[in-house]
Amino acid sequence: MNAFLIVFLIFIAIILILVGLFLITGLGGSPYVPTERKDLEEVFTKLCPLKKTDLLIDLGAGDGIILEAAARHGARAIGIEINPVLVFLTNRRLFRTLKNRRATMKCHDIYQYKFPQETTVVYAYLSDFMMPKAFAHAQDEADRLGKPLKFIANAFYLKNHDAVKQVGQYYLYELKPKTGSKTS
Ligand SMILES: C[S@@+](CC[C@H](N)C(=O)[O-])C[C@H]1O[C@@H](n2cnc3c(N)ncnc32)[C@H](O)[C@@H]1O
Repeated sequence: MNAFLIVFLIFIAIILILVGLFLITGLGGSPYVPTERKDLEEVFTKLCPLKKTDLLIDLGAGDGIILEAAARHGARAIGIEINPVLVFLTNRRLFRTLKNRRATMKCHDIYQYKFPQETTVVYAYLSDFMMPKAFAHAQDEADRLGKPLKFIANAFYLKNHDAVKQVGQYYLYELKPKTGSKTS
């Protein structure tokens, strides 16, 4: 086999792995479809104004536009994303564009991720199938941390839960910790 063929085959293998990663995360849960950038100013001023002391977690963070917007509003932000390619590329971009270094991505499954104690706001834009599970996980984390959390849902109204506010297709919920919760 000549060198050109080997390089070509390696190139094809890399492309197939990258395409496979996007297909697996898309078909297995929620595809990579970003939130509309133009909506974010209203979301973080009218629906849920952010402060310097806020820590926002984006469950399924994609290309990190939520983290970028949250950091520009002064908050700290952590993105949880299962696709390692998106995590790598986004961390690189955030490092270059954000001077305050207040946003970062972690490669993790959202259902296994333990929120830091300082968490105040959770954002999710996921498939209809994943959204109720992400909401339930955020409620479990509010119970574990023993503190209330705000939950912003994009394009999804959660049945059996009353949103406290709505701006366009964005809903704000308040998760109250259940009494007697275990803080660890
Ligand atoms: C609809 S996109 C939303 C991206 C971003 N939050 C936004 O609003 O622009 C959903 C993201 O969730 C990721 N995802 C799907 N299942 C996941 C899981 N179990 N754990 C972490 N991320 C997941 C996908 O790879 C995709 O990038």
